[in-house]
Amino acid sequence: MRWMRAAGRGLLVLVVVLTGYAASGVRADVGAPGGRGPVTLATAGDLTGYLGPLLEGWNRTHPDEQVTLVELPDSADETHAQMTTDLRSGERSRFDVLNIDVNWTSQFAAAGWIRPLPRERFPLDTFLPPVVDTATYEGRLYAVPYVTNAGLLFYRADILEKEGIEPPRTWDELERIAETVAPKYGLDGYAGQFLPYEGLTVNAAEAVYSAGGSILGDEGERVTVNSEAAREGIGFLARGVREGWIPKAALSYKEEESKQAFQDGHLLFLRNWPYVYAVASAAGSPVAGRIGAVPLPGSDGPGTSVLGGSNLAVSSHARHPDTASRLIAYLTGERAQRQVLTSGALPPVRAALYEDPELVRRFPYLPTLKAGVLAAAPRPKSPEYDQVSLVVQAVVQDAMTGRQSPEAAVRRLAKELAAVSGR
Ligand code: GLC
Repeated sequence: MRWMRAAGRGLLVLVVVLTGYAASGVRADVGAPGGRGPVTLATAGDLTGYLGPLLEGWNRTHPDEQVTLVELPDSADETHAQMTTDLRSGERSRFDVLNIDVNWTSQFAAAGWIRPLPRERFPLDTFLPPVVDTATYEGRLYAVPYVTNAGLLFYRADILEKEGIEPPRTWDELERIAETVAPKYGLDGYAGQFLPYEGLTVNAAEAVYSAGGSILGDEGERVTVNSEAAREGIGFLARGVREGWIPKAALSYKEEESKQAFQDGHLLFLRNWPYVYAVASAAGSPVAGRIGAVPLPGSDGPGTSVLGGSNLAVSSHARHPDTASRLIAYLTGERAQRQVLTSGALPPVRAALYEDPELVRRFPYLPTLKAGVLAAAPRPKSPEYDQVSLVVQAVVQDAMTGRQSPEAAVRRLAKELAAVSGR
């Protein structure tokens, strides 16, 4: 009988090793001995230049585990293309820790490019709840939330005050003010991120959600976009360009270009992420002290923002997985998260920071932002997310440039999304 037990044990070991390998496709477990040493951290463009100094803090105390920052372009799509090309190169991959957009977790996990992480190593219950969900795939933790985001409506408070007008809560109000007040001051009315890239998908999804619609249902398994609400949402964006209260230039804006137009004093209303508040309020900004931020307006009351942000993941081919995981613990720890906000102007994932009186004094939009993040709607979770996003961008661009009516655009969207997800 002893041989059976011994063979059984051997089998058990073999099974653990094999399933461990198959499930994660990794060389060594996170936390495995020998997993310490230098690592790289790949990220999309650091728009506020805070990350270098934050990583120096780590490098000073970890001489044998130095981290090198690899900064990729600031367009989400270009960063995605560069990361996936690198990850597909397998053993030759250069990236160890990946700062991935929240909506890439499923694709990266399903492809085996990132490894599952032990939940107990990270204080997930101290994070804002919706962000933790973006880091899991099929019930396992594949990344750790790092930065969150929710769209806000920025406005020129000085002008609205002069006019005795409250910031808009509905699209009707926004359109009316953009059409009548902006030209009086030589300004354009409204802009968001309308270049065809992930930013347009975000703006289009917000428009659809803010009219009460959806794009995909059941975790991406059903196409639900063919609705009156979607026609209304896409119609709002198309009408803006047609009627001129969205300037044509906005069709080529990403986050930075649209922020610049607002900061240079050319725009009355801007949909963008919270970093704009700190950057446009800084000394030297022409609109410093003259701006405000409110929740996004919607079809008949406040609208719905899309949940943005990024998560930190460990590449399946990471050279030193244990260091990678420790670096993630450092960057998501209380001190680094405070710096993410104070130096990076980015919304942290740690819930307690939103209640910190000193931080609320310095960043008065924190309560609005927290409410925005808690109410934000995720983008569809799908291993084919990049295809879904490409379809949305292409179709919505055609609607905004007037090549296709909102009705025809929504019909086409439903058809093409069904083809992408094979349904
Ligand atoms: C911001 C968001 C991210 C989103 C991107 C779109 O970086 O945090 O989630 O995908 O903008 O441009």
